[in-house]
Amino acid sequence: MPVNVIDNRPIVCLEFFSGIGGLHYGLQQSGTPGKVVMSFDMNENANTVYEHNFGYRPNNKAIDYLELQDIDRHKANCWLLSPPCQPYTRGGKYLDDQDPRARGLIHLLQLLPQLKNTPDYLLLENVMNFENSRSRTMLVTTLGHLGFKVYEFLLSPVQLGIPNSRLRYFLVARREWPRPPSSSAEDSDELEAYDAWVAANKQRTDEYLQRGRDAVYTQWPIDLATGSVPANAADIALEPLASYIDLAANDDPLLLVPEVYILKRKSLEFDIVRTSSPSTSTFTKAYGSKHLIGSGSLLQTKRLDVVENGFKSPERLLDLGLRFFSPKEVALLHHFPYVEGKSQSDAAEDPQGETAVPGYTLNFPSSTTQKQRLQLLGNSLNVKVVAELLKQVLFSDTIR
Ligand SMILES: C[S@@+](CC[C@H](N)C(=O)[O-])C[C@H]1O[C@@H](n2cnc3c(N)ncnc32)[C@H](O)[C@@H]1O
Repeated sequence: MPVNVIDNRPIVCLEFFSGIGGLHYGLQQSGTPGKVVMSFDMNENANTVYEHNFGYRPNNKAIDYLELQDIDRHKANCWLLSPPCQPYTRGGKYLDDQDPRARGLIHLLQLLPQLKNTPDYLLLENVMNFENSRSRTMLVTTLGHLGFKVYEFLLSPVQLGIPNSRLRYFLVARREWPRPPSSSAEDSDELEAYDAWVAANKQRTDEYLQRGRDAVYTQWPIDLATGSVPANAADIALEPLASYIDLAANDDPLLLVPEVYILKRKSLEFDIVRTSSPSTSTFTKAYGSKHLIGSGSLLQTKRLDVVENGFKSPERLLDLGLRFFSPKEVALLHHFPYVEGKSQSDAAEDPQGETAVPGYTLNFPSSTTQKQRLQLLGNSLNVKVVAELLKQVLFSDTIR
């Protein structure tokens, strides 16, 4: 049975808004002996990929309509969530909690205090700017009032040496002050203890919220006791981008950026990188489509002597052999355990035999198109950043 590193309880997770399972892979990559027992997502393409790799299909009911029992029945003590980011972006008009796409998260926050099995651990991922939202205030308040200690971060994979920028918001929370036990509703000592617990949680939460954005850590590694970079932290150098490039993809005609996409652009501010470039920009779910600007880096495969930026005419770009990064390359930059040509994950046994963790890999079923793969990867996250947060913060027993 997998055991919790802190108090010997099994770590049993639910993964909400699971997509292709980035948080699930993160849990595994963190080395935490825990498991995800159910996942929730309404995107059937994502669920097909998820099932292909993890061997079960996520629940496709809209999270906005989950009932207490849908959650309680799993007796989970850990929640992993990556809700939609559009409510907190310019593209989504910053509608925040008024955006219908925020309903799933808000619904979960409303259910949380009513559950029999309140989780002890929680990790949430979203875009930068979530930290300024009313949804974040609601999240921090709900968790704080239930006795959670909250840590917030804005981190990018480049801070871990990965040549890809993807600045994202992370909230990591542990239930440090659980509700005092009660045997009878009338016992006055118990009522007093309960009232004191409520008041202390409220005060801690108010104080935390007053810190505003100052509460958000932006450096990594971080010493949570002092809030600064540990004195012995070594400078992290970026790994060479070349080590993530699959040269065989240069010959894939499906990855070439169609001329018409380039010629149609008025603005030519593409992010063009070469294998010798230091890093790449964020891949979004629009990557691989005609939306070339702001959706992720393009790889220059020809005329490598041309390294200028700010091209005046689109024709100048046509002989640079611009191609999209392949799904394999994006998956590797996101630190998924990507494999080709495999249909099922290995169930690797832990050598000790006690904490058997299946060795999941990411592989796409042949029914998914290249465009769908890029879309799903653009919607996903960096697995290594999640793994580090789980290992160093959520399940670390050194930070209390
Ligand atoms: C930002 S993506 C998360 C991706 C995921 N972390 C991964 O690694 O692929 C958000 C996901 O939430 C799903 N989603 C959005 N609203 C939902 C809802 N109300 N109920 C269930 N799933 C929802 C989308 O289908 C999408 O897969």
